[in-house]
Amino acid sequence: MHIAIINGPNLNLLGTREPEVYGSQTFEEYFKELQHKYPAIKFSYFQSNIEGELISEVQKMGVESDGVLLNAAAFTHTSIGLGDAISAIKTPVVEIHISNIYAREEYRHHSYLTGKCVGVISGLGLKGYELGVEYLKCEM
Ligand code: DQA
Repeated sequence: MHIAIINGPNLNLLGTREPEVYGSQTFEEYFKELQHKYPAIKFSYFQSNIEGELISEVQKMGVESDGVLLNAAAFTHTSIGLGDAISAIKTPVVEIHISNIYAREEYRHHSYLTGKCVGVISGLGLKGYELGVEYLKCEM
């Protein structure tokens, strides 16, 4: 089973970026823990600050992976193109947010992705990725 993790803009700064909101662990550290916890799963990890690169990765992982965990970060709230990319693939996509977007500024309450995803996990910290893995494992 291949699970693709795709992270959007500014998530390369996890660990130092607003630690009171996003925690103090880097994604690279967390990714190692995740791989260690699920040795039978093949994980791929892609991060970009560029919308088009994220769209291309969703298209690619729609063919190459069995499930996608997508934290599109700020593009969640702006990108019709990413929403269309999710609609274009058959692979299930789980929308992930580290913070609780519904407890934050109103402009974060709307997502162009949620309606295209199988579900959304928001506000449970980095643990949300692991919970997404648990869901995809049950679905495969
Ligand atoms: C985020 C929430 C978004 O609103 C924000 O723009 C991010 C990260 C999260 O993981 O909580 O960059 O997706």
